[in-house]
Amino acid sequence: MPDTSPLFEPFAVRNKTLPNRIVMPPMVVNRGINTRAAREWYGERAQGGAGLVIVEATGVTGFVGRYGAEDLAPLAGAIHEGGALSAIQLFPGARGQTTTPTDLDRRTIDDLIEAYAATASICAEAGFDGVEIHGAHGFLLNQFFSLEQNRRQDAYGSTLAGRMLLAVQITRAVRDALPDETLLLYRHTPLGQGYRLEESIELGSELVDAGVDILDLSPSSIEEPGDRAAPFRALDVPLITVNDLDVVERALTVLREDRADLIAVGRGLIADPEWPNKVRENRLEDIVTCIKCDQCFADLRAERPVGCVQWEQA
Ligand SMILES: Cc1cc2nc3c(=O)[nH]c(=O)nc-3n(C[C@H](O)[C@H](O)[C@H](O)COP(=O)(O)O)c2cc1C
Ligand code: SF4
Repeated sequence: MPDTSPLFEPFAVRNKTLPNRIVMPPMVVNRGINTRAAREWYGERAQGGAGLVIVEATGVTGFVGRYGAEDLAPLAGAIHEGGALSAIQLFPGARGQTTTPTDLDRRTIDDLIEAYAATASICAEAGFDGVEIHGAHGFLLNQFFSLEQNRRQDAYGSTLAGRMLLAVQITRAVRDALPDETLLLYRHTPLGQGYRLEESIELGSELVDAGVDILDLSPSSIEEPGDRAAPFRALDVPLITVNDLDVVERALTVLREDRADLIAVGRGLIADPEWPNKVRENRLEDIVTCIKCDQCFADLRAERPVGCVQWEQA
């Protein structure tokens, strides 16, 4: 049996302490965010032993007016009752929106920055310990960063500083809107279409200066565990890494080799919310293993409540 204790060391950041190193990354599960089904889903994952539960991508456009702190407080509360810290990922736009950088005039950019700040403020008031800006996976902020996808000729394009500007402005606005104690995370894909890893490290540095507390690095490929996170060790900021880390030995390697501070387990926690508790108790044979069939992604796209093919066999 491997010594899994490194995964269960607390981790302090800002004035918060995660009870362990396991993060549930944001995953849209089509259960809403102010519903009983959402509270049960996320509460169950917190009870299963994750240290930080990040609620799914939630659009900032149209958020104000639709949700108040009182609508989301029960969800943050359900996660806390389960024993985890809570965060929520904020998506640049409305859910499913496919805006590109060239579609946005200056007024729309200003509105987006304002919507981020106002939404973050409501989420903090609802009791979330953190908010995460979604800058990854080829969505809008990631497109702004890409030389191939960002064809703008104004201050928000062409140079590296221009391609980083919107992300930095949103980060500053969100930081200013948040109470001091609330964590600010930023999710970025380290290597993508139209930008280099070195440029991503530069972006990380700017984001840290603008107030980011944790960089959540979500690569679009896997090689060594945490391979795309390790180069960000050049920066003075805690790192989350992700991708197939429900294989316990891979997760332990990340910590042993100090490639990141926190391990995100996504599909592994869909398949088995008790993954962290079972790992802590060395009950690895009891884990309902994710077979990486990606049926849950199909549910996501079909807008069905996300489930898992492994449940019938559990
Ligand atoms: C059903 C589903 C929904 C997802 N939704 C989001 C999301 O809302 N935001 C996000 O940044 N990533 C999302 N992801 C990606 C996960 O956060 C994670 O990065 C990915 O599943 C890889 O981790 P894993 O190998 O542990 O599953 C989603 C993944 C799945 C399976
Ligand atoms: S549906 Fe497939 S990929 Fe998704 S969590 Fe279950 S086993 Fe893993």
